[in-house]
Amino acid sequence: MKAVPSRLSREQAKEILGKVDSMVESHRGRDAREAAVRALNSNVSTYSWVGIYLVDGQDLILDAWSGPIATEHVRIPIGKGVCGFAAKAGRTEIVSDVSKDPRYLQCFPSTKSEIVVPITHLGKIVGEIDIDSEELGGFSSVDREFLEAVATKISAHCVE
Ligand code: SME
Repeated sequence: MKAVPSRLSREQAKEILGKVDSMVESHRGRDAREAAVRALNSNVSTYSWVGIYLVDGQDLILDAWSGPIATEHVRIPIGKGVCGFAAKAGRTEIVSDVSKDPRYLQCFPSTKSEIVVPITHLGKIVGEIDIDSEELGGFSSVDREFLEAVATKISAHCVE
């Protein structure tokens, strides 16, 4: 059981970015991606499930994840769901209340909000970070900036 979730502060984000940085620096490729999802899930109490999807042709393939249960959405066509939308649009998507977003593909009944952050390498989208929260409005601009910085750090590890 995690402690009662409170929103990520800028100070925490800075500290956790340092942790993610050192974990990612000491691993390569898939190991780095695994380390990143574990670090995010274990350090931020509002993140209930953290995954990295990689682009494979016209699809997103689930690559690394950390959370209590597996998702059935291991392959998502680009353009489908919040994940596919973010990959197509090439920008971060925050869904504050998934029950109100018709694009949302449900993975876990307990999920209330979601953020999807594209991972870009040499100007091309190579993957994305997908995070679920059991809190309504679980993601703010602090999470967005933090996760966009994580996506930048992890990007070189998403092409090997
Ligand atoms: N909810 C996502 C699908 C992936 S699961 O959250 C892990 C979507 O709407 O694309």
